[in-house]
Amino acid sequence: MLNFAAAFLKKTSPNVAEPLTRGLDCEKPESQAIISLRSVSKRYKNGVVGLHCIDLEVGKGDFLFITGHSGSGKSTLLKLLYGAERATEGEIYVNGTEVTPLRGDALAMLRRRIGIVFQDYKLIPNRTVAENIAFVLMSQGYTHQEIERRLQPALRMVGLSHKAFCFPDQLSGGEQQRTSIARAIVNTPPLLLADEPTGNLDPENSWQVIKILKKLNSFGVTVVLTTHDHHLVKAAGCPVLHLQNGMISTGAIGAC
Ligand SMILES: Nc1ncnc2c1ncn2[C@@H]1O[C@H](COP(=O)(O)OP(=O)(O)O)[C@@H](O)[C@H]1O
Ligand SMILES: [Mg+2]
Repeated sequence: MLNFAAAFLKKTSPNVAEPLTRGLDCEKPESQAIISLRSVSKRYKNGVVGLHCIDLEVGKGDFLFITGHSGSGKSTLLKLLYGAERATEGEIYVNGTEVTPLRGDALAMLRRRIGIVFQDYKLIPNRTVAENIAFVLMSQGYTHQEIERRLQPALRMVGLSHKAFCFPDQLSGGEQQRTSIARAIVNTPPLLLADEPTGNLDPENSWQVIKILKKLNSFGVTVVLTTHDHHLVKAAGCPVLHLQNGMISTGAIGAC
């Protein structure tokens, strides 16, 4: 069992599961998968097929890039994982829980264990950096003391301790995205999903975001990140899954 919370809060390195991501035909024990998709398809109400017959396993502690052209199904895949959309066929397991049947509180509980980062940051404009990050914890009933204990390490992790009292419009795009990463990890989820997190950033800020995500990954957080930036994928040197028209391209997973 990874102890990300302790590692993150005390800034010490725990034992980390060996990074490994493969298709379903691998011999990896079931218990080591944090994400498992079996013959998953998603057809939207208007008949458009977002994903077609996807089989995938992501191991605990992996760092996986998902690439593909616009409209290839990257966001759809992530949305199915955190329950923003429901699969029309197949089974999806996240952290051992089947996602598709979840509703209401059960779905909310699953989402508490998943950090989500979006391309457009989705920060609350009239709240400071610290408040944006703390908001997640407040809404989940954390005590004031616990919020204080978690806030500073989260800010340090993304290099924003000195911007804690700034508002989003006083930050650069890179700083806003780093705030959204801090918000996503402040409750120490074992899984982080990032949908085009560098889509609005210049190369330098993009690389800073990747470095932070890699650091989190070294603490044991499983990271799944979509991008269409091939330079970034190449520089990061992590396994890549390539989507094309809602399907996994043949031989798509592998070190780049
Ligand atoms: N809510 C929706 N309703 C209908 N079609 C959708 C919806 N969301 C996405 N799609 C379609 O599903 C396909 C995959 O979209 P998406 O997952 O957003 O691709 P990507 O993130 O790779 O750009 C596209 O053809 C897109 O138009
Ligand atoms: Mg997308």
